Amino acid sequence: TDLYCVFGNPIAHSKSPLIHGLFAEQTAQALRYEARLAPLDGFAAEVSEFAQQNGRGANVTVPFKLEAFALCDRLSKRAESAGAVNTLRFVDDKIEGDNTDGVGLVRDIVVNAGFAIRGKRVLLIGAGGAARGALLPLLEQQPKSVLISNRTVSKAEELVAMASKWTSEKDVCTASSFQDVSGEFDLIINASSASLMGESIALPNTLYAPQSLAYDMMYGAELTPFLKNAQNAGSMVRDGLGMLIEQAAEAFAIWRGVRPDTQRVFAQLRGALS
Ligand code: ATR
Repeated sequence: TDLYCVFGNPIAHSKSPLIHGLFAEQTAQALRYEARLAPLDGFAAEVSEFAQQNGRGANVTVPFKLEAFALCDRLSKRAESAGAVNTLRFVDDKIEGDNTDGVGLVRDIVVNAGFAIRGKRVLLIGAGGAARGALLPLLEQQPKSVLISNRTVSKAEELVAMASKWTSEKDVCTASSFQDVSGEFDLIINASSASLMGESIALPNTLYAPQSLAYDMMYGAELTPFLKNAQNAGSMVRDGLGMLIEQAAEAFAIWRGVRPDTQRVFAQLRGALS
């Protein structure tokens, strides 16, 4: 039985062991996946201990994604662009790092919600790690434009400068403060941590184009204040449960070479939320 885990602090409430357990059952893969609490000052030591115990791969969550990035011997392009790693693979005595968060988001929007991003006007709210991780996978879908809007505008500008290194299409990506956001958008993604604190975002409710989709990376039994506002403005809404499951499915595929059926797991987890 191959061994996998998720490292975090805290970790007790992580859904990853449940999700990967369901994936393993469904695909008949013989593996064990456990939650491991790493001390805040002892992430690297936990990882090397896990590798010595013959661990094959691991997910990494808050607050260790930047440390995981620094620890890797090899990085995928999407890990490089995210500046963070959420998926480790132990190969011989080397550590390979990837980041599946952004591709999980995009797959949930494009495949599960059936909302094509190509040619659309995208508003990305936030400029922290979550926004950065989403940016390259979003740009690869060839949206018409991506406006990054952040409470601290200088951080949005830094992200735009980074993005200009990844995309040949100039001017696709621009930055703005919340106050200066104008016009309509087809896809509005909340990658800020405002929802974690139960806060709404100081944006006008005129920014939702007809047939727009508002997406919050957070999920829960109830809509976040951001999604409630969007729904009141006539937008379709979707929370981040699908992103959580899709980032896990991508990690599973990297490790095991098989892609689980995420729909069934989605229905099961959604049912358990309410
Ligand atoms: P994460 O890894 O979740 O992205 P982060 O790197 O700490 O976390 O980034 C948090 C993001 O949420 C930032 O863009 C932050 O805005 P600032 O750069 O201005 O700090 C944003 N954020 C946090 N609380 C917010 C709020 N109440 N309203 C709007 N944006 C908020």
